[in-house]
Amino acid sequence: MVSRLPPGEAFYDVLHRRRDVRAEFTGEPVDDAVLHRILGAAHAAPSVGMSQPWDFVLVRDLATRQRFRDHVLAERAVFADELTGERAETFSRIKVEGILESTLSVVVAYDPERGSPAVLGRHAIADAGLYSVCLAIQNLWLAATAEGLGVGWVSFYREPFLRDLLGMPDRVRPVAWLCLGPVTRLAEVPDLERHGWRDRLPLEAVVHAERYPEEADAATRRIASAERSTSASVVDQFDTDTRR
Ligand SMILES: Cc1cc2nc3c(=O)[nH]c(=O)nc-3n(C[C@H](O)[C@H](O)[C@H](O)COP(=O)(O)O)c2cc1C
Repeated sequence: MVSRLPPGEAFYDVLHRRRDVRAEFTGEPVDDAVLHRILGAAHAAPSVGMSQPWDFVLVRDLATRQRFRDHVLAERAVFADELTGERAETFSRIKVEGILESTLSVVVAYDPERGSPAVLGRHAIADAGLYSVCLAIQNLWLAATAEGLGVGWVSFYREPFLRDLLGMPDRVRPVAWLCLGPVTRLAEVPDLERHGWRDRLPLEAVVHAERYPEEADAATRRIASAERSTSASVVDQFDTDTRR
């Protein structure tokens, strides 16, 4: 079939429509053939030394999802306890998971033993294996978006808890719990922006010529310290500074 879109346009459309989803899952099941295509897209990701160090655990069991959600809500409370003032108030309005709203979760794991001991390209950078898993996740996320589905990444968990829950060996790292399913819609604006937690930085703030700029380093540290503070006005001021 000949596409009527200019080259690349369909891809960029999917890329920009992709959202992290929490509240918009309909609770309908994911079609098996669609799921197979999405997992195939994840498995087509590049990986260091062709190690393909990922595994995808499909979790549908309600009891397992409920146990995980209880744990996530406890970790949400741990994070909330670290916040004060405007940050605490803003965070209280933000939903961080859609574990029970969706009917399927895909847990993506990293096995550092896959393809070892001689993983070509990982000898100097151990994290390259983890990077590969993240690329598989991004492929999955974009494929799901292209299929009209939503994905929500949940990271409010302790790795040992999730390892135990799913029977993973100690060497394996659970990298992501992804809620996956049909959605009522994909929001145009990310939830965290909509709630005033944090905005996407302008592209110019993160693209640099030739060398890593000292000013950007300083600006990053100033933003981090502002975000630790409880004052929204300080955060706004530093955000403004970095956008100049
Ligand atoms: C590594 C990673 C972990 C994340 N963990 C969570 C999470 O625990 N809960 C949540 O609601 N969103 C989580 N997100 C989603 C981000 O909040 C979201 O990507 C960001 O706000 C930008 O919004 P967008 O994905 O809709 O563009 C995570 C995203 C990434 C990449």
